[in-house]
Amino acid sequence: MRVAIFSIHPYEVPFLDRANEGAGHDLVYLQTSLSESTASLADGFEGVSLFVGDDASAGVLQALHAGGTRVIALRSAGFNHVDIEEADRLGITVLRVPAYSPNAVAEHAVALMMVLNRKLHRAFNRTREQNFELTGLMGFDMFEKTAGIIGTGKIGEVLCRILLGFGCRVLASDPERNPACEAMGVEYVDLDDLYARSDIISLNCPLTPATKHLINAKALEMMKPGVMLINTSRGGVIDTRALIEALKKGNIGSVGLDVYEEEGDLFFHDLSDRVIQDDVFVRLITFPNVLITAHQGFLTREACTAIAETTIANLSDFAVGSTRSENEVTKRLIAPVKGSR
Ligand code: NAI
Repeated sequence: MRVAIFSIHPYEVPFLDRANEGAGHDLVYLQTSLSESTASLADGFEGVSLFVGDDASAGVLQALHAGGTRVIALRSAGFNHVDIEEADRLGITVLRVPAYSPNAVAEHAVALMMVLNRKLHRAFNRTREQNFELTGLMGFDMFEKTAGIIGTGKIGEVLCRILLGFGCRVLASDPERNPACEAMGVEYVDLDDLYARSDIISLNCPLTPATKHLINAKALEMMKPGVMLINTSRGGVIDTRALIEALKKGNIGSVGLDVYEEEGDLFFHDLSDRVIQDDVFVRLITFPNVLITAHQGFLTREACTAIAETTIANLSDFAVGSTRSENEVTKRLIAPVKGSR
Protein backbone atom coordinates (compact mmCIF):
# COMPACT_ATOMS: atom_id res chain seq x y z
CA MET A 1 0.00 0.00 0.00
CA ARG A 2 1.15 3.57 -0.67
CA VAL A 3 1.30 5.35 2.64
CA ALA A 4 1.99 9.04 3.29
CA ILE A 5 3.66 9.27 6.70
CA PHE A 6 3.04 12.79 8.02
CA SER A 7 5.11 14.51 10.75
CA ILE A 8 7.97 12.05 10.44
CA HIS A 9 10.74 12.57 12.98
CA PRO A 10 14.26 11.43 12.16
CA TYR A 11 14.32 9.10 15.17
CA GLU A 12 11.32 7.14 13.78
CA VAL A 13 12.67 6.29 10.32
CA PRO A 14 14.94 3.34 11.24
CA PHE A 15 12.17 1.78 13.34
CA LEU A 16 9.57 2.09 10.55
CA ASP A 17 11.99 0.89 7.84
CA ARG A 18 12.87 -2.17 9.93
CA ALA A 19 9.21 -2.97 10.68
CA ASN A 20 8.34 -2.59 6.97
CA GLU A 21 11.07 -4.97 5.74
CA GLY A 22 8.74 -7.98 5.43
CA ALA A 23 5.58 -6.01 4.67
CA GLY A 24 6.83 -4.04 1.66
CA HIS A 25 4.54 -1.00 1.88
CA ASP A 26 5.54 2.04 -0.14
CA LEU A 27 6.22 4.50 2.69
CA VAL A 28 6.66 8.15 1.76
CA TYR A 29 8.06 10.21 4.64
CA LEU A 30 6.79 13.79 4.95
CA GLN A 31 8.23 16.14 7.55
CA THR A 32 5.25 18.45 7.32
CA SER A 33 2.29 17.95 9.61
CA LEU A 34 -1.19 17.27 8.27
CA SER A 35 -3.53 20.25 8.01
CA GLU A 36 -6.05 21.63 5.51
CA SER A 37 -3.21 23.17 3.54
CA THR A 38 -1.09 19.99 3.38
CA ALA A 39 -3.83 17.35 2.94
CA SER A 40 -3.36 17.39 -0.86
CA LEU A 41 0.11 15.86 -0.36
CA ALA A 42 -1.75 12.61 0.35
CA ASP A 43 -3.63 12.62 -2.98
CA GLY A 44 -3.46 9.11 -4.42
CA PHE A 45 -2.34 7.53 -1.14
CA GLU A 46 -4.72 4.87 0.18
CA GLY A 47 -2.98 5.02 3.56
CA VAL A 48 -1.96 7.93 5.73
CA SER A 49 -0.05 7.73 8.99
CA LEU A 50 -0.32 10.48 11.60
CA PHE A 51 1.33 11.56 14.82
CA VAL A 52 -0.18 13.48 17.73
CA GLY A 53 0.39 16.99 16.32
CA ASP A 54 -1.41 16.31 13.05
CA ASP A 55 -4.83 17.83 12.44
CA ALA A 56 -7.39 15.33 11.21
CA SER A 57 -10.48 17.46 11.78
CA ALA A 58 -13.58 17.11 9.60
CA GLY A 59 -12.45 19.31 6.70
CA VAL A 60 -9.04 17.65 6.53
CA LEU A 61 -10.62 14.19 6.54
CA GLN A 62 -12.93 15.22 3.69
CA ALA A 63 -9.90 16.37 1.69
CA LEU A 64 -8.07 13.10 2.41
CA HIS A 65 -11.11 11.07 1.41
CA ALA A 66 -11.47 13.00 -1.85
CA GLY A 67 -7.82 12.18 -2.57
CA GLY A 68 -8.44 8.45 -2.14
CA THR A 69 -7.36 7.84 1.46
CA ARG A 70 -9.22 4.96 3.08
CA VAL A 71 -7.14 4.19 6.17
CA ILE A 72 -5.40 6.30 8.80
CA ALA A 73 -2.76 4.54 10.87
CA LEU A 74 -2.06 6.58 14.00
CA ARG A 75 1.43 6.24 15.44
CA SER A 76 -0.04 6.93 18.87
CA ALA A 77 -2.50 5.63 21.42
CA GLY A 78 -4.31 8.97 21.76
CA PHE A 79 -6.73 9.88 18.97
CA ASN A 80 -8.19 13.23 20.07
CA HIS A 81 -6.65 14.89 16.96
CA VAL A 82 -8.95 12.88 14.67
CA ASP A 83 -12.65 13.63 14.14
CA ILE A 84 -13.76 10.04 14.61
CA GLU A 85 -17.42 10.72 13.79
CA GLU A 86 -16.46 12.28 10.47
CA ALA A 87 -14.04 9.45 9.68
CA ASP A 88 -16.84 7.00 10.40
CA ARG A 89 -19.25 8.91 8.16
CA LEU A 90 -16.70 8.98 5.33
CA GLY A 91 -15.86 5.30 5.76
CA ILE A 92 -12.20 5.97 6.62
CA THR A 93 -10.83 3.30 8.96
CA VAL A 94 -8.79 4.74 11.83
CA LEU A 95 -6.29 2.41 13.48
CA ARG A 96 -4.07 3.19 16.45
CA VAL A 97 -1.40 1.64 18.62
CA PRO A 98 -3.39 1.10 21.80
CA ALA A 99 -0.48 -0.18 23.87
CA TYR A 100 3.17 0.14 22.97
CA SER A 101 4.88 0.63 26.25
CA PRO A 102 2.79 1.75 29.17
CA ASN A 103 6.05 1.48 31.12
CA ALA A 104 7.64 4.26 29.04
CA VAL A 105 4.94 6.81 29.92
CA ALA A 106 4.45 5.70 33.53
CA GLU A 107 8.21 5.83 34.13
CA HIS A 108 8.34 9.32 32.60
CA ALA A 109 5.57 10.45 34.97
CA VAL A 110 7.68 9.15 37.86
CA ALA A 111 10.75 10.90 36.42
CA LEU A 112 8.83 14.20 36.45
CA MET A 113 7.74 13.55 40.04
CA MET A 114 11.24 12.79 41.27
CA VAL A 115 12.92 15.68 39.45
CA LEU A 116 10.34 18.13 40.81
CA ASN A 117 10.34 16.65 44.30
CA ARG A 118 14.12 16.63 44.72
CA LYS A 119 14.60 19.78 42.58
CA LEU A 120 17.09 18.02 40.32
CA HIS A 121 16.47 20.52 37.50
CA ARG A 122 17.70 23.28 39.80
CA ALA A 123 20.51 21.23 41.34
CA PHE A 124 21.86 20.36 37.88
CA ASN A 125 22.21 24.03 37.00
CA ARG A 126 23.65 24.98 40.37
CA THR A 127 26.48 22.45 40.42
CA ARG A 128 27.46 23.41 36.86
CA GLU A 129 27.82 26.97 38.18
CA GLN A 130 29.86 25.63 41.12
CA ASN A 131 27.06 26.67 43.45
CA PHE A 132 26.84 23.91 46.05
CA GLU A 133 24.32 25.70 48.28
CA LEU A 134 21.32 23.51 49.28
CA THR A 135 18.81 26.23 50.15
CA GLY A 136 15.62 25.81 48.12
CA LEU A 137 16.27 22.17 47.24
CA MET A 138 14.18 20.59 50.04
CA GLY A 139 12.06 17.66 48.91
CA PHE A 140 9.83 15.12 50.64
CA ASP A 141 9.87 11.36 51.16
CA MET A 142 7.61 9.56 48.69
CA PHE A 143 7.10 6.91 51.38
CA GLU A 144 3.60 7.12 52.88
CA LYS A 145 2.55 10.04 50.66
CA THR A 146 -0.85 9.78 48.98
CA ALA A 147 -0.90 9.64 45.19
CA GLY A 148 -4.14 10.08 43.24
CA ILE A 149 -4.24 8.54 39.78
CA ILE A 150 -6.95 9.73 37.39
CA GLY A 151 -7.32 7.00 34.80
CA THR A 152 -6.15 3.50 35.66
CA GLY A 153 -5.86 1.99 32.20
CA LYS A 154 -2.62 0.52 30.94
CA ILE A 155 -0.38 3.46 31.90
CA GLY A 156 -2.20 4.22 35.14
CA GLU A 157 -1.87 0.59 36.23
CA VAL A 158 1.92 0.60 35.77
CA LEU A 159 2.14 3.92 37.59
CA CYS A 160 0.13 2.54 40.52
CA ARG A 161 2.54 -0.41 40.76
CA ILE A 162 5.63 1.86 40.79
CA LEU A 163 4.14 4.23 43.38
CA LEU A 164 3.09 1.36 45.63
CA GLY A 165 6.74 0.28 45.39
CA PHE A 166 7.75 3.65 46.86
CA GLY A 167 5.40 2.94 49.76
CA CYS A 168 2.79 5.49 48.64
CA ARG A 169 -0.92 5.13 49.41
CA VAL A 170 -2.59 5.10 46.01
CA LEU A 171 -6.08 6.46 45.34
CA ALA A 172 -7.69 6.29 41.93
CA SER A 173 -10.61 7.63 39.96
CA ASP A 174 -11.83 5.89 36.83
CA PRO A 175 -15.37 5.16 35.67
CA GLU A 176 -14.15 1.64 34.93
CA ARG A 177 -12.27 0.07 37.80
CA ASN A 178 -9.19 -1.96 36.92
CA PRO A 179 -9.27 -5.26 38.85
CA ALA A 180 -5.44 -5.47 38.71
CA CYS A 181 -5.23 -2.14 40.53
CA GLU A 182 -7.80 -3.20 43.11
CA ALA A 183 -5.80 -6.38 43.70
CA MET A 184 -2.67 -4.27 44.32
CA GLY A 185 -4.47 -2.31 47.02
CA VAL A 186 -5.40 0.82 45.06
CA GLU A 187 -8.43 2.52 46.61
CA TYR A 188 -11.04 3.84 44.17
CA VAL A 189 -12.62 7.08 45.39
CA ASP A 190 -14.67 9.83 43.82
CA LEU A 191 -12.82 12.76 42.28
CA ASP A 192 -13.57 15.24 45.07
CA ASP A 193 -12.09 12.83 47.59
CA LEU A 194 -9.03 12.24 45.39
CA TYR A 195 -8.45 15.99 45.05
CA ALA A 196 -8.81 16.55 48.78
CA ARG A 197 -6.52 13.72 49.92
CA SER A 198 -3.72 13.48 47.36
CA ASP A 199 -0.20 14.88 47.77
CA ILE A 200 0.54 13.97 44.16
CA ILE A 201 -2.05 13.83 41.36
CA SER A 202 -1.29 12.20 38.03
CA LEU A 203 -3.51 12.44 34.96
CA ASN A 204 -3.60 9.25 32.94
CA CYS A 205 -7.01 9.39 31.28
CA PRO A 206 -7.63 10.11 27.57
CA LEU A 207 -8.81 13.51 26.34
CA THR A 208 -12.51 13.15 25.58
CA PRO A 209 -15.42 15.61 25.77
CA ALA A 210 -15.87 14.37 29.36
CA THR A 211 -12.25 14.97 30.40
CA LYS A 212 -11.67 18.29 28.57
CA HIS A 213 -10.61 20.81 31.27
CA LEU A 214 -11.33 18.24 33.98
CA ILE A 215 -8.65 20.10 35.95
CA ASN A 216 -10.28 23.54 36.05
CA ALA A 217 -10.33 26.33 38.64
CA LYS A 218 -12.85 24.46 40.81
CA ALA A 219 -10.85 21.23 40.79
CA LEU A 220 -7.60 23.11 41.54
CA GLU A 221 -9.25 24.80 44.53
CA MET A 222 -10.22 21.42 45.97
CA MET A 223 -6.62 20.17 45.92
CA LYS A 224 -4.36 20.09 48.98
CA PRO A 225 -2.12 23.15 49.32
CA GLY A 226 1.29 22.19 47.94
CA VAL A 227 -0.06 19.40 45.72
CA MET A 228 2.16 18.09 42.91
CA LEU A 229 0.27 17.79 39.61
CA ILE A 230 1.60 15.60 36.80
CA ASN A 231 0.11 15.41 33.31
CA THR A 232 1.41 12.90 30.78
CA SER A 233 -2.01 12.33 29.18
CA ARG A 234 -3.19 15.17 26.93
CA GLY A 235 -2.83 18.91 27.47
CA GLY A 236 -6.55 19.62 27.11
CA VAL A 237 -7.33 17.74 30.32
CA ILE A 238 -5.99 20.81 32.16
CA ASP A 239 -7.38 24.34 31.80
CA THR A 240 -3.95 25.97 31.51
CA ARG A 241 -5.13 29.50 32.34
CA ALA A 242 -6.77 28.25 35.55
CA LEU A 243 -3.54 26.37 36.38
CA ILE A 244 -1.50 29.56 35.95
CA GLU A 245 -3.84 31.43 38.30
CA ALA A 246 -3.53 28.67 40.92
CA LEU A 247 0.28 28.71 40.56
CA LYS A 248 0.33 32.49 41.01
CA LYS A 249 -1.69 32.14 44.22
CA GLY A 250 0.92 29.68 45.49
CA ASN A 251 -1.63 26.89 46.02
CA ILE A 252 0.18 24.37 43.85
CA GLY A 253 3.49 22.87 45.02
CA SER A 254 4.76 21.83 41.62
CA VAL A 255 3.61 20.86 38.16
CA GLY A 256 5.14 18.39 35.70
CA LEU A 257 3.75 18.49 32.19
CA ASP A 258 4.66 16.31 29.23
CA VAL A 259 1.70 17.69 27.28
CA TYR A 260 0.18 21.12 26.73
CA GLU A 261 -3.17 22.25 25.34
CA GLU A 262 -1.69 24.14 22.39
CA GLU A 263 1.39 21.96 21.95
CA GLY A 264 0.73 21.50 18.22
CA ASP A 265 2.42 24.82 17.39
CA LEU A 266 5.41 24.20 19.66
CA PHE A 267 6.37 20.65 20.47
CA PHE A 268 8.55 18.51 18.19
CA HIS A 269 10.13 21.63 16.61
CA ASP A 270 13.37 23.48 17.35
CA LEU A 271 12.15 27.02 18.00
CA SER A 272 15.24 28.12 19.88
CA ASP A 273 15.83 31.11 17.58
CA ARG A 274 12.17 32.21 17.37
CA VAL A 275 9.99 34.48 19.46
CA ILE A 276 7.27 32.28 20.92
CA GLN A 277 3.86 33.88 20.35
CA ASP A 278 1.95 31.76 22.86
CA ASP A 279 1.91 34.01 25.95
CA VAL A 280 0.17 31.39 28.10
CA PHE A 281 2.95 28.88 27.47
CA VAL A 282 5.65 31.50 28.00
CA ARG A 283 4.09 32.42 31.38
CA LEU A 284 3.98 28.74 32.32
CA ILE A 285 7.69 28.17 31.76
CA THR A 286 8.64 31.09 34.01
CA PHE A 287 7.51 29.30 37.20
CA PRO A 288 10.44 27.70 39.02
CA ASN A 289 8.18 24.85 40.19
CA VAL A 290 6.93 23.94 36.71
CA LEU A 291 8.79 21.37 34.62
CA ILE A 292 7.78 20.83 31.02
CA THR A 293 8.94 18.14 28.65
CA ALA A 294 7.81 18.22 25.03
CA HIS A 295 5.65 15.09 24.80
CA GLN A 296 8.48 12.62 25.18
CA GLY A 297 6.81 10.18 27.58
CA PHE A 298 6.69 7.52 24.86
CA LEU A 299 10.28 8.06 23.74
CA THR A 300 12.05 4.82 24.59
CA ARG A 301 13.59 2.29 22.19
CA GLU A 302 11.08 -0.32 23.29
CA ALA A 303 8.09 1.95 22.69
CA CYS A 304 9.35 3.16 19.29
CA THR A 305 9.87 -0.45 18.15
CA ALA A 306 6.35 -1.38 19.23
CA ILE A 307 4.79 1.74 17.62
CA ALA A 308 6.47 1.02 14.28
CA GLU A 309 5.62 -2.69 14.31
CA THR A 310 1.94 -2.14 15.20
CA THR A 311 1.57 0.69 12.66
CA ILE A 312 2.90 -1.51 9.86
CA ALA A 313 0.81 -4.49 11.05
CA ASN A 314 -2.31 -2.27 11.10
CA LEU A 315 -1.67 -1.22 7.48
CA SER A 316 -1.04 -4.83 6.42
CA ASP A 317 -4.22 -6.02 8.16
CA PHE A 318 -6.27 -3.30 6.45
CA ALA A 319 -4.76 -4.27 3.08
CA VAL A 320 -6.11 -7.82 3.49
CA GLY A 321 -9.42 -6.66 5.01
CA SER A 322 -8.94 -7.92 8.55
CA THR A 323 -8.30 -5.11 11.01
CA ARG A 324 -7.91 -5.98 14.68
CA SER A 325 -10.88 -4.62 16.57
CA GLU A 326 -8.76 -3.65 19.60
CA ASN A 327 -6.69 -1.32 17.34
CA GLU A 328 -9.65 0.26 15.56
CA VAL A 329 -10.84 3.65 16.81
CA THR A 330 -14.61 3.82 16.61
CA LYS A 331 -17.29 6.11 18.00
CA ARG A 332 -17.68 3.79 21.00
CA LEU A 333 -14.32 5.05 22.34
CA ILE A 334 -15.44 8.69 22.42
CA ALA A 335 -18.86 8.17 24.00
CA PRO A 336 -19.14 10.21 27.23
CA VAL A 337 -18.16 8.02 30.15
CA LYS A 338 -20.80 7.46 32.82
CA GLY A 339 -19.84 9.07 36.12
CA SER A 340 -17.02 11.18 34.67
CA ARG A 341 -16.85 14.92 35.14
P1 NAI B 1 -6.11 3.34 28.44
O1 NAI B 1 -7.21 3.45 27.44
O2 NAI B 1 -5.51 2.01 28.70
O3 NAI B 1 -6.61 3.93 29.84
C1 NAI B 1 -7.30 5.12 29.99
C2 NAI B 1 -8.14 5.01 31.23
O4 NAI B 1 -8.74 6.28 31.48
C3 NAI B 1 -9.27 3.97 31.12
O5 NAI B 1 -9.24 3.08 32.21
C4 NAI B 1 -10.53 4.83 31.12
O6 NAI B 1 -11.66 4.16 31.73
C5 NAI B 1 -10.06 6.00 31.94
N1 NAI B 1 -10.92 7.17 31.85
C6 NAI B 1 -11.70 7.58 30.81
N2 NAI B 1 -12.39 8.65 31.16
C7 NAI B 1 -12.05 8.96 32.44
C8 NAI B 1 -12.45 9.96 33.35
N3 NAI B 1 -13.35 10.87 33.02
N4 NAI B 1 -11.89 9.96 34.59
C9 NAI B 1 -10.99 9.02 34.95
N5 NAI B 1 -10.58 8.03 34.11
C10 NAI B 1 -11.11 8.00 32.88
O7 NAI B 1 -5.02 4.39 27.98
P2 NAI B 1 -3.47 4.43 28.35
O8 NAI B 1 -2.70 3.62 27.38
O9 NAI B 1 -3.30 4.17 29.79
O10 NAI B 1 -3.13 5.95 28.03
C11 NAI B 1 -3.74 7.01 28.76
C12 NAI B 1 -3.52 8.30 28.00
O11 NAI B 1 -2.13 8.63 28.05
C13 NAI B 1 -3.82 8.23 26.49
O12 NAI B 1 -5.18 8.45 26.20
C14 NAI B 1 -2.96 9.32 25.93
O13 NAI B 1 -3.72 10.52 25.90
C15 NAI B 1 -1.82 9.45 26.93
N6 NAI B 1 -0.55 9.04 26.36
C16 NAI B 1 0.49 9.90 26.46
C17 NAI B 1 1.75 9.58 25.96
C18 NAI B 1 2.93 10.49 26.11
O14 NAI B 1 3.93 10.30 25.41
N7 NAI B 1 2.88 11.47 26.99
C19 NAI B 1 1.94 8.31 25.24
C20 NAI B 1 0.79 7.43 25.28
C21 NAI B 1 -0.41 7.81 25.79
